[in-house]
Amino acid sequence: MQVSNQAAGDSGGMPHWSSRFAFIMAAVGSAVGLGNIWKFPYMAGTGGGGAFVLMYLGIVLLFGVPILIAELMLGRMAQRAPAAALAHLGRTHGGTTAWGWIGGMGVIAALLILSFYSVVAGWAVAYIPEMLSGELANANAERTAEVFGALLANPEQLLVWHSIFMVATVAIVAGGVTKGIEAFVTWMMPALFIMLLFLVGYAMVEGEFLRGVAYLFRPDFSAITVDVVIAAAGQAFFSLSIGLGTMLAYGSYLPRDVSIPKTAVTVALADTSVALLAGCAIFPIVFASGLNPGEGPGLVFVTLTVAFGSMPFGMIVGAVFFLLLAVAAITSSISLLEPIVATLKERSGLSRPLLCVLIGLVAWVMGLATVWSFNDWSDVKVLGDRTPFDTIDYVTSSIMLPLGGALMAVFTGWVLSSETLRRELGFDSEALFGFWRFLIRFVAPVGVAAVAIQKILG
Ligand code: PFF
Repeated sequence: MQVSNQAAGDSGGMPHWSSRFAFIMAAVGSAVGLGNIWKFPYMAGTGGGGAFVLMYLGIVLLFGVPILIAELMLGRMAQRAPAAALAHLGRTHGGTTAWGWIGGMGVIAALLILSFYSVVAGWAVAYIPEMLSGELANANAERTAEVFGALLANPEQLLVWHSIFMVATVAIVAGGVTKGIEAFVTWMMPALFIMLLFLVGYAMVEGEFLRGVAYLFRPDFSAITVDVVIAAAGQAFFSLSIGLGTMLAYGSYLPRDVSIPKTAVTVALADTSVALLAGCAIFPIVFASGLNPGEGPGLVFVTLTVAFGSMPFGMIVGAVFFLLLAVAAITSSISLLEPIVATLKERSGLSRPLLCVLIGLVAWVMGLATVWSFNDWSDVKVLGDRTPFDTIDYVTSSIMLPLGGALMAVFTGWVLSSETLRRELGFDSEALFGFWRFLIRFVAPVGVAAVAIQKILG
């Protein structure tokens, strides 16, 4: 991928994506990951199904897409890494560099997310040999839950897979992502999509399809609480990779002739359809095998392996699936590491490879809190009854990302002039532009503030 190769930035001048297509693939690669296939289904399950999904879709539309547009635009305008970008635009358009702090918060959020992301991606990597071993052929739900439980109970194992994944992430970003990743993304993302379609087909034939789909899409308005809204918002921001500067960093590599609104809609459509497909594949199997939709973080590992266990060549199909999931995760984890490296590189003058290794090491050590959350520290509760992992996840997804997104929306809507925005975005119609600007100026900040106040008072 020329992009990131040059994004290594050692050659001076600002790099650009090789094509709109390459950019979309990289942005989709960042958005589509564990968030869609691992997290969305289990969050929907613990959040009560339809109520959560309805809120999620509403938030993607009214907050997610508009903020994604703003973030990409800020990056392309500033041609700098996130913190410096916001400080620079703040100075040139609003007279203060204080906006740069949003980027600083984003770097911390990215580091925290990367720490647990790598551990969970490690589970997917672990499941490749697990499938190939054939141990789960014909396994029922009880057995697949047992196998997953055994993995979580073993910190050494988790550590090995976590380390492998982190080393791979560091190696890719340090090396300046080359053609390999572009090939990865362009071939493997569609492959993952097709695989999910196939699994949905399987769920139709073998699972309780209607029940699963009804669970996901039948909105139960009475089940919508502040906590459901917060969880859905956190999931929407996490899934779209917005609120911490990832899309801002990627936007800074984007050529001027590419339409940002169209790109943002494409990314959001791809991201949302993968999440919904994963849900449609998983819940029918959940009900058919008597599992609990509120099972938690193990949901996808426990349910889909039941399906793989019962289909012809299922162990091979399963191994390929987890390989694709690991690849989807790595195209996301590199997008978490990239803005941290870009920010610190501008400030420290250290070389890119050295920074990658140092940051990777810090994130790896922080990942231990997640590794132990599932075994030695499972009784440690922080923030209510949350394990350390749940706490890191909650604080980043549900607080830092929406806050960062809302602040970027305020900056875009209130500090930048409407002429600037009109020129940068080239919306097809004035009405659409007006609607977007309304969402950015009023709906995003007021919505996030209202939910925060409700939560604090509640
Ligand atoms: N969007 C990724 C996923 O859904 O798995 C996770 C992620 C990547 C979140 C990059 C935030 C980010 F900046």
